Amino acid sequence: MITDISSAYGEICSAALRAGQIIAETSPENVGVFKKSGDANFVTESDIRIQKFLRSQLSAACPEAGFLGEEDDGASSSGPAKYVFIVDPIDGTSNYMFGLRLSTVSIALCDAERGRPVAAAVCCPSSGEVFSALEGGGAFLNGKQIRVSDRKLQNSLAAFGSTPYDRTLAPLHMEILSDIYSSCLDVRNLGSAALHLAYLAAGRFGGFYEMRLCPWDYAAGALLITEAGGRITNFSGNFPSLESGDSIVAGTPAAYPEMLGIISSHIK
Ligand code: IPD
Ligand code: CA
Repeated sequence: MITDISSAYGEICSAALRAGQIIAETSPENVGVFKKSGDANFVTESDIRIQKFLRSQLSAACPEAGFLGEEDDGASSSGPAKYVFIVDPIDGTSNYMFGLRLSTVSIALCDAERGRPVAAAVCCPSSGEVFSALEGGGAFLNGKQIRVSDRKLQNSLAAFGSTPYDRTLAPLHMEILSDIYSSCLDVRNLGSAALHLAYLAAGRFGGFYEMRLCPWDYAAGALLITEAGGRITNFSGNFPSLESGDSIVAGTPAAYPEMLGIISSHIK
Protein backbone atom coordinates (compact mmCIF):
# COMPACT_ATOMS: atom_id res chain seq x y z
CA MET A 1 0.00 0.00 0.00
CA ILE A 2 1.36 3.44 -0.84
CA THR A 3 0.81 5.41 2.34
CA ASP A 4 2.72 8.48 1.34
CA ILE A 5 1.62 9.90 -2.00
CA SER A 6 3.66 13.03 -1.39
CA SER A 7 6.90 11.08 -1.17
CA ALA A 8 5.95 9.25 -4.40
CA TYR A 9 5.37 12.72 -5.89
CA GLY A 10 8.97 13.68 -5.06
CA GLU A 11 10.24 10.51 -6.76
CA ILE A 12 8.12 11.21 -9.85
CA CYS A 13 9.48 14.76 -10.19
CA SER A 14 13.07 13.68 -9.82
CA ALA A 15 12.68 10.68 -12.17
CA ALA A 16 11.07 12.95 -14.82
CA LEU A 17 13.96 15.39 -14.57
CA ARG A 18 16.60 12.65 -14.87
CA ALA A 19 14.78 11.02 -17.79
CA GLY A 20 14.61 14.45 -19.44
CA GLN A 21 18.40 14.68 -19.12
CA ILE A 22 18.70 11.45 -21.14
CA ILE A 23 16.63 13.03 -23.93
CA ALA A 24 18.78 16.18 -23.81
CA GLU A 25 22.05 14.23 -23.87
CA THR A 26 21.26 11.79 -26.70
CA SER A 27 21.57 12.65 -30.32
CA PRO A 28 18.62 11.29 -32.30
CA GLU A 29 20.88 10.65 -35.34
CA ASN A 30 22.72 8.00 -33.30
CA VAL A 31 19.74 6.04 -32.05
CA GLY A 32 17.84 3.28 -33.83
CA VAL A 33 14.30 4.01 -35.02
CA PHE A 34 11.64 1.36 -35.49
CA LYS A 35 8.17 1.56 -36.98
CA LYS A 36 5.16 0.65 -34.83
CA SER A 37 1.65 -0.20 -35.98
CA GLY A 38 -0.50 2.61 -37.40
CA ASP A 39 0.41 5.60 -39.56
CA ALA A 40 3.65 7.53 -38.88
CA ASN A 41 4.12 5.77 -35.53
CA PHE A 42 7.73 5.24 -34.43
CA VAL A 43 9.73 4.15 -31.43
CA THR A 44 13.43 4.87 -30.90
CA GLU A 45 16.06 3.17 -28.76
CA SER A 46 15.83 6.21 -26.47
CA ASP A 47 12.10 5.61 -25.83
CA ILE A 48 12.93 2.05 -24.76
CA ARG A 49 15.97 3.04 -22.72
CA ILE A 50 14.08 5.78 -20.85
CA GLN A 51 11.11 3.54 -20.16
CA LYS A 52 13.47 0.92 -18.64
CA PHE A 53 15.09 3.62 -16.53
CA LEU A 54 11.72 4.92 -15.31
CA ARG A 55 10.41 1.45 -14.57
CA SER A 56 13.42 0.66 -12.39
CA GLN A 57 13.38 4.03 -10.57
CA LEU A 58 9.64 4.17 -9.94
CA SER A 59 9.23 0.50 -9.11
CA ALA A 60 12.09 0.74 -6.59
CA ALA A 61 10.44 3.76 -4.97
CA CYS A 62 6.92 2.23 -4.92
CA PRO A 63 7.18 -1.56 -5.45
CA GLU A 64 3.47 -2.08 -4.73
CA ALA A 65 2.36 0.10 -7.66
CA GLY A 66 1.72 -1.30 -11.14
CA PHE A 67 3.44 0.13 -14.23
CA LEU A 68 1.97 0.91 -17.63
CA GLY A 69 4.32 2.41 -20.20
CA GLU A 70 3.74 3.30 -23.84
CA GLU A 71 6.49 0.96 -24.99
CA ASP A 72 4.77 -2.02 -23.35
CA ASP A 73 2.21 -1.52 -26.15
CA GLY A 74 -0.53 -0.87 -23.63
CA ALA A 75 -0.11 -4.11 -21.66
CA SER A 76 0.39 -3.47 -17.96
CA SER A 77 3.42 -5.39 -16.75
CA SER A 78 1.89 -6.19 -13.40
CA GLY A 79 -1.32 -7.62 -12.01
CA PRO A 80 -4.15 -5.52 -10.58
CA ALA A 81 -2.84 -2.89 -8.15
CA LYS A 82 -4.51 -0.01 -6.32
CA TYR A 83 -1.97 2.44 -7.75
CA VAL A 84 -0.43 2.38 -11.24
CA PHE A 85 2.30 4.48 -12.81
CA ILE A 86 1.26 5.55 -16.31
CA VAL A 87 4.35 6.62 -18.23
CA ASP A 88 5.27 8.03 -21.61
CA PRO A 89 9.07 7.94 -21.79
CA ILE A 90 9.13 10.32 -24.78
CA ASP A 91 5.93 12.11 -25.71
CA GLY A 92 6.74 13.68 -29.04
CA THR A 93 8.87 10.89 -30.51
CA SER A 94 8.59 12.39 -34.01
CA ASN A 95 9.83 15.73 -32.67
CA TYR A 96 12.77 13.88 -31.12
CA MET A 97 13.56 12.01 -34.36
CA PHE A 98 13.58 15.20 -36.43
CA GLY A 99 15.51 17.31 -33.94
CA LEU A 100 12.58 19.51 -32.86
CA ARG A 101 13.38 20.09 -29.21
CA LEU A 102 9.80 19.75 -28.02
CA SER A 103 9.63 16.29 -26.49
CA THR A 104 8.55 15.54 -22.94
CA VAL A 105 8.68 12.84 -20.29
CA SER A 106 5.24 12.24 -18.80
CA ILE A 107 4.67 10.34 -15.53
CA ALA A 108 1.48 9.96 -13.52
CA LEU A 109 0.73 7.89 -10.44
CA CYS A 110 -2.93 6.94 -10.73
CA ASP A 111 -5.49 5.59 -8.28
CA ALA A 112 -6.80 2.70 -10.37
CA GLU A 113 -9.98 2.24 -8.33
CA ARG A 114 -11.08 5.86 -8.73
CA GLY A 115 -9.60 6.22 -12.22
CA ARG A 116 -7.83 9.42 -11.23
CA PRO A 117 -4.20 10.62 -11.35
CA VAL A 118 -2.93 11.60 -7.89
CA ALA A 119 0.62 12.80 -8.58
CA ALA A 120 2.23 13.76 -11.88
CA ALA A 121 5.15 15.40 -13.65
CA VAL A 122 5.84 16.45 -17.23
CA CYS A 123 9.45 17.42 -18.01
CA CYS A 124 10.43 19.37 -21.13
CA PRO A 125 14.23 19.11 -21.07
CA SER A 126 14.94 21.64 -23.83
CA SER A 127 13.34 24.46 -21.81
CA GLY A 128 14.40 23.08 -18.42
CA GLU A 129 10.76 23.06 -17.33
CA VAL A 130 9.19 20.52 -14.97
CA PHE A 131 5.42 20.84 -14.61
CA SER A 132 4.04 18.90 -11.66
CA ALA A 133 0.88 18.41 -9.65
CA LEU A 134 -0.35 16.64 -6.53
CA GLU A 135 -4.03 15.88 -6.14
CA GLY A 136 -5.51 18.50 -3.81
CA GLY A 137 -2.13 20.24 -3.57
CA GLY A 138 -1.97 22.42 -6.70
CA ALA A 139 0.02 22.50 -9.93
CA PHE A 140 3.55 23.87 -10.26
CA LEU A 141 6.17 24.89 -12.82
CA ASN A 142 9.69 24.40 -11.45
CA GLY A 143 8.20 24.64 -7.97
CA LYS A 144 6.13 27.83 -8.52
CA GLN A 145 2.35 27.48 -8.45
CA ILE A 146 0.59 27.81 -11.82
CA ARG A 147 -3.03 28.48 -12.82
CA VAL A 148 -4.84 28.28 -16.12
CA SER A 149 -5.62 31.65 -17.67
CA ASP A 150 -9.01 33.34 -17.28
CA ARG A 151 -9.25 33.94 -21.03
CA LYS A 152 -12.10 32.96 -23.29
CA LEU A 153 -11.36 31.02 -26.45
CA GLN A 154 -11.53 34.13 -28.64
CA ASN A 155 -8.62 35.69 -26.70
CA SER A 156 -6.51 32.51 -26.53
CA LEU A 157 -4.16 30.33 -28.54
CA ALA A 158 -5.73 26.88 -28.94
CA ALA A 159 -3.64 23.71 -29.26
CA PHE A 160 -4.58 20.58 -31.13
CA GLY A 161 -3.16 17.20 -32.04
CA SER A 162 -3.72 15.70 -35.46
CA THR A 163 -4.23 12.05 -34.42
CA PRO A 164 -1.31 11.22 -36.72
CA TYR A 165 -1.53 7.45 -36.20
CA ASP A 166 -5.07 7.20 -37.60
CA ARG A 167 -5.49 9.20 -40.82
CA THR A 168 -9.07 7.99 -41.28
CA LEU A 169 -10.06 10.69 -38.76
CA ALA A 170 -8.42 13.49 -40.76
CA PRO A 171 -11.62 14.86 -42.42
CA LEU A 172 -13.47 15.13 -39.09
CA HIS A 173 -10.39 16.57 -37.40
CA MET A 174 -10.03 19.24 -40.10
CA GLU A 175 -13.71 20.26 -39.77
CA ILE A 176 -13.34 20.69 -36.01
CA LEU A 177 -10.03 22.51 -36.42
CA SER A 178 -11.52 24.93 -38.91
CA ASP A 179 -14.23 25.97 -36.43
CA ILE A 180 -11.81 26.22 -33.53
CA TYR A 181 -9.44 28.33 -35.63
CA SER A 182 -12.33 30.71 -36.43
CA SER A 183 -13.13 31.01 -32.71
CA CYS A 184 -9.68 31.70 -31.22
CA LEU A 185 -6.63 33.91 -31.79
CA ASP A 186 -4.62 31.18 -33.54
CA VAL A 187 -3.93 27.43 -33.38
CA ARG A 188 -0.78 25.45 -32.55
CA ASN A 189 0.34 21.82 -32.78
CA LEU A 190 3.63 21.34 -30.89
CA GLY A 191 3.68 17.55 -31.44
CA SER A 192 3.39 16.48 -27.79
CA ALA A 193 0.01 16.08 -26.12
CA ALA A 194 1.61 16.19 -22.66
CA LEU A 195 3.29 19.50 -23.54
CA HIS A 196 0.00 20.96 -24.81
CA LEU A 197 -1.70 20.06 -21.53
CA ALA A 198 1.20 21.37 -19.44
CA TYR A 199 1.20 24.67 -21.34
CA LEU A 200 -2.56 24.96 -20.87
CA ALA A 201 -2.10 24.42 -17.12
CA ALA A 202 0.51 27.19 -17.12
CA GLY A 203 -1.84 29.68 -18.80
CA ARG A 204 -0.14 29.60 -22.23
CA PHE A 205 -2.99 27.94 -24.15
CA GLY A 206 -6.72 28.48 -23.69
CA GLY A 207 -7.83 25.10 -25.05
CA PHE A 208 -6.67 21.77 -26.44
CA TYR A 209 -8.27 18.84 -28.21
CA GLU A 210 -7.17 15.62 -29.87
CA MET A 211 -9.04 12.50 -30.88
CA ARG A 212 -8.05 9.00 -29.76
CA LEU A 213 -5.11 9.62 -27.48
CA CYS A 214 -3.75 6.95 -25.12
CA PRO A 215 -3.69 7.22 -21.29
CA TRP A 216 0.09 7.82 -21.22
CA ASP A 217 -0.42 10.89 -23.44
CA TYR A 218 -2.79 12.61 -20.99
CA ALA A 219 -2.72 10.98 -17.51
CA ALA A 220 -0.14 13.41 -16.11
CA GLY A 221 -1.48 16.41 -18.07
CA ALA A 222 -5.00 15.77 -16.78
CA LEU A 223 -3.87 16.29 -13.19
CA LEU A 224 -1.89 19.40 -14.16
CA ILE A 225 -5.04 20.87 -15.72
CA THR A 226 -7.44 20.09 -12.87
CA GLU A 227 -5.00 21.24 -10.19
CA ALA A 228 -4.39 24.46 -12.15
CA GLY A 229 -8.13 25.22 -12.20
CA GLY A 230 -8.92 24.07 -15.75
CA ARG A 231 -11.24 21.42 -17.15
CA ILE A 232 -10.42 18.23 -19.05
CA THR A 233 -12.82 15.53 -20.25
CA ASN A 234 -13.48 13.18 -23.10
CA PHE A 235 -15.89 14.28 -25.85
CA SER A 236 -18.85 13.01 -23.73
CA GLY A 237 -17.95 15.36 -20.88
CA ASN A 238 -16.61 12.65 -18.56
CA PHE A 239 -13.16 12.47 -16.99
CA PRO A 240 -10.89 10.72 -19.54
CA SER A 241 -10.43 6.97 -19.17
CA LEU A 242 -7.12 5.83 -17.68
CA GLU A 243 -7.81 2.23 -18.70
CA SER A 244 -8.21 2.71 -22.44
CA GLY A 245 -7.66 5.47 -24.96
CA ASP A 246 -9.95 8.48 -25.17
CA SER A 247 -10.54 11.66 -27.14
CA ILE A 248 -9.60 14.70 -25.09
CA VAL A 249 -10.88 18.25 -24.78
CA ALA A 250 -9.45 20.66 -22.22
CA GLY A 251 -9.60 24.34 -21.52
CA THR A 252 -9.79 27.26 -19.17
CA PRO A 253 -13.11 27.52 -17.31
CA ALA A 254 -14.33 29.93 -20.01
CA ALA A 255 -12.86 28.20 -23.07
CA TYR A 256 -13.64 24.56 -22.20
CA PRO A 257 -17.42 24.81 -22.81
CA GLU A 258 -16.75 26.64 -26.09
CA MET A 259 -14.32 23.92 -27.22
CA LEU A 260 -16.70 21.11 -26.24
CA GLY A 261 -19.60 22.91 -27.94
CA ILE A 262 -17.69 23.15 -31.23
CA ILE A 263 -16.57 19.51 -31.05
CA SER A 264 -20.08 18.27 -30.15
CA SER A 265 -21.54 20.08 -33.16
CA HIS A 266 -19.40 17.84 -35.41
CA ILE A 267 -19.91 14.50 -33.62
CA LYS A 268 -23.08 12.73 -34.64
C1 IPD B 1 2.08 11.52 -29.70
C2 IPD B 1 2.18 12.98 -29.42
C3 IPD B 1 1.48 13.77 -30.52
C4 IPD B 1 0.05 13.35 -30.70
C5 IPD B 1 -0.04 11.86 -30.89
C6 IPD B 1 0.64 11.14 -29.74
P1 IPD B 1 4.11 9.95 -28.98
O1 IPD B 1 2.72 10.77 -28.71
O2 IPD B 1 1.59 13.29 -28.16
O3 IPD B 1 1.45 15.14 -30.20
O4 IPD B 1 -0.50 14.04 -31.77
O5 IPD B 1 -1.40 11.51 -30.97
O6 IPD B 1 0.51 9.76 -29.89
O7 IPD B 1 3.78 8.84 -29.91
O8 IPD B 1 5.07 10.93 -29.56
O9 IPD B 1 4.47 9.47 -27.62
CA1 CA C 1 5.85 8.13 -26.56
